[in-house]
Amino acid sequence: MIHEITRRESLAGALAVPIAPYATVSSDEAGLDAAGRRSGLRFGSALSAWAHGASMDNPAYAALLQVDCGLLVAENEMKWQHLRPAPGQFDFAAFDRIMAWAAQHRMAVRGHNLLWQRRKWMPTWLERYDFGARPAKSAGEILVNHITTVTRRYGKRIASYDVVNEAVTPETGALEETALSHALGGTEATLDLAFRTAHEQAPHAELVYNDYMSWEPGNAAHRAGVLRLLEGFRRRGVPVHGLGVQSHIVTAGLDTGGSARSYERDWRHFLDAVTGMGYRLLITELDVRDNGLPADIVVRDRGVAEYARRYLDVMLSYPQLRDVVAWGLCDRFSWIGPVERRADKAARRPCPYDADYRAKPLRAAIAQALAAAPPRPA
Ligand code: G3I
Repeated sequence: MIHEITRRESLAGALAVPIAPYATVSSDEAGLDAAGRRSGLRFGSALSAWAHGASMDNPAYAALLQVDCGLLVAENEMKWQHLRPAPGQFDFAAFDRIMAWAAQHRMAVRGHNLLWQRRKWMPTWLERYDFGARPAKSAGEILVNHITTVTRRYGKRIASYDVVNEAVTPETGALEETALSHALGGTEATLDLAFRTAHEQAPHAELVYNDYMSWEPGNAAHRAGVLRLLEGFRRRGVPVHGLGVQSHIVTAGLDTGGSARSYERDWRHFLDAVTGMGYRLLITELDVRDNGLPADIVVRDRGVAEYARRYLDVMLSYPQLRDVVAWGLCDRFSWIGPVERRADKAARRPCPYDADYRAKPLRAAIAQALAAAPPRPA
């Protein structure tokens, strides 16, 4: 607490963060991570190493990270596409800089990710790779080498990994195939090997399966596929500790409370099934697509905040959840803007801070949800 206040004070002048009018909780003053710590929760965000992005090299963004975060995740820099420019090569430069900045500011880092089970997001060279006469052996060696190299390099400095990201096809619930998993003898064998290797090399670390099955309608097949996958891990004795619930949530109009209530029952069934198998839960990539809300910023921001608050209250009611990570703090850099325009072309407002680094009602809603969360068991 004392540390948090000092950190904030040291930023005075560098940052003017007007808190939205209904952010009245006092814990809010010390930042979101500090608000969460009282209940045994951590708050963090994605960041990037590009100076003009959501980066620690951008002083205005770095200031937000320092106020609100105890936990960081590289938005892209630990992915195969960035770490592995060519078969025999690793390029750790960008991710190392993130690790160094986190250490300097005494923040934890989650590793994202050791395997992204999607052709589109693995390096082109790997998709075209000639796995030779013994493809399973060769593919296994590539995967084990990658995970071993990364986990050994960072050792205990990374205590939680998204070992596998997005292995389930949302529309069908089936498992995704990549060139690597095809050569290795199937997706289950590939994912199992990824987790077993991560556990062997980083026995201290929390190992997470991370995906975007969400609570909105239209995700039933995705959720069922994730449950099957998690059941399979347990049956086969694969060391998986948690489910990363990405939480790219989506509003569907002004009645945000009504829609949240109607989503809650099925969503709790899903979370009950996951936690019933002994998995922890993490919110790994929180942001809000402001669909169906009017362009008016005041109305829209309020709708986003109310919807997120209801979602967070459900999630935080599970004592198995200890980490809340936002997928970026500032609307200016959110991945959603370029990828998905609103029908009315209004700029998206998915993050806790607006494009000019000013706190929005969403930040206040997160602060309130963290402060109101039941304490986690020691
Ligand atoms: O590398 C180039 C860079 O050199 C260039 O300056 C820049 C200009 O646009 O593009 C850069 O690459 C882009 C990169 O983001 C950095 O901005 C890629 O084209 C783009 O595909 C990449 O998108 C990322 C995406 O994952 C794919 O890796 C998003 O930033 C990132 O937010 C998104 O994150 C994912 C999570 O990892 C998994 N869950 C879903 C989430 C959102 O899609």
